[in-house]
Amino acid sequence: MAGSVEVIVKELNLENVDPLPEDFDTTAIIKDPLPPLADEARESVKSGENGVVMKKEREIVLGRNVHTMCLEVTEPDADDEVTGEREAHMASVLARYRRSLLERTKHHLGYPYNLEFDYGALGQLQHFSINNLGDPFIESNYGVHSRQFEVGVLDWFARLWELEKNEYWGYITNCGTEGNLHGILVGREVFPDGILYASRDTHYSIFKAARMYRMECEKVNTLTSGEIDCVDFKAKLLCHQDKPAIINVNIGTTVKGAVDDLDLVIKTLEETGFSHDRFYIHCDGALFGLMMPFVKRAPKVSFKKPIGSVSVSGHKFVGCPMPCGVQITRLEHINALSRDVEYLASRDATIMGSRNGHAPIFLWYTLNRKGYKGFQKEVQKCLRNAHYLKGRLRDAGIGVMLNELSSTVVFERPHDEEFIRKWQLACQGNIAHVVVMPNVTVEKLDKFVFELIEKRATWYNNGTVQSPCVASELGKENCLCNLHG
Ligand SMILES: Cc1ncc(COP(=O)(O)O)c(C=O)c1O
Repeated sequence: MAGSVEVIVKELNLENVDPLPEDFDTTAIIKDPLPPLADEARESVKSGENGVVMKKEREIVLGRNVHTMCLEVTEPDADDEVTGEREAHMASVLARYRRSLLERTKHHLGYPYNLEFDYGALGQLQHFSINNLGDPFIESNYGVHSRQFEVGVLDWFARLWELEKNEYWGYITNCGTEGNLHGILVGREVFPDGILYASRDTHYSIFKAARMYRMECEKVNTLTSGEIDCVDFKAKLLCHQDKPAIINVNIGTTVKGAVDDLDLVIKTLEETGFSHDRFYIHCDGALFGLMMPFVKRAPKVSFKKPIGSVSVSGHKFVGCPMPCGVQITRLEHINALSRDVEYLASRDATIMGSRNGHAPIFLWYTLNRKGYKGFQKEVQKCLRNAHYLKGRLRDAGIGVMLNELSSTVVFERPHDEEFIRKWQLACQGNIAHVVVMPNVTVEKLDKFVFELIEKRATWYNNGTVQSPCVASELGKENCLCNLHG
């Protein structure tokens, strides 16, 4: 009989599937699968001589780190629905996970995420599968979308970066990386034979774009501050005067928080003979794209200047429970990239297909609550607190640097990996940084500095280990090692 179990088994070829092993235990669960909280973890690190915590090197080994902490998915028991045991188990796992999130949030300093927000009012939306697939400005046949919020957010950003409503195109991305991938793609579509120029301190997503699109890429030197070195930029442009230029300008580099001088980049292009129709500038504002407009001395990011696109991360300065971002470009550029898709009844001009429809609502919610004035206040607070941290570290004899337009405080890498992990510091070579975001208070910074001073006394007390020299990364004037201090 059509549809009978036998027929389905035959059709799916299940007869040849190996039976489950006899010792397959559907109720087996990992007893203690969550990583320990930081305090517990610290206790588990062995003490070396003089009670100094041994530095545990963390190797990056594909597949190993994650699997040791994996929360295995197990098959429900036949009577689980009756006993409620599975629900209770899952609730306890989630409760423990929530506790660890609270603890990790309390001690986070190194990544540029604003972890303070209240989206309680949006809890009601979790029951909907909101998807903005296709073009934000062309409604597809899928009706459970949030385009009206998305376009509202895009209008806000277009106004911030001075581009008229009828002259811009953009969309809410999954993250700053997607904005960069899109910005460079638009540049490449405008200039298919263009050469990509990006400074050495540029985020890896730009170099990933170069690889993905098979573009010729010139890495430009940087100054000690992390800004693009326009002398080197000019020299590299002169070597390729016959090809159009696609340039990534950093509005906040990842490690040092350096803001490239957009005006100097444009001047360098003009002086080298590149007219406005022979270059395309993408501004990577993932980090400070939403902060710089509120800092008087900062180079203004504006479409009144000859730039092609700007992107920003939504989960960084704004703060959002899910990664997201905003990408804005000129409408005139997008036609080269987009294709009509009958099945969507919309147009495809984005990197992704399905697009998170919740993210625009979260962004819309915060923009409405805070407005330009609210962000301005938060930017001022972040810059003030960053200067406070720099002063405290320097007073404690720690080599430190803070760029004028930045809230990224760069300092000598702490000796102990456990300390780095506890405060979730991002490190590169001899340096580490704290990115002061709106949720980073003076009290939190005091706690951090106090603990760092206390630890340093144990790391460096008997002279066998010395604090690292950071002269080559931060400049001699910012280094306080034995040689330069
Ligand atoms: C300068 C810069 N660009 C791009 C990115 C990528 O942003 P996302 O993590 O949102 O993909 C980052 C991330 O920190 C960044 O610092």
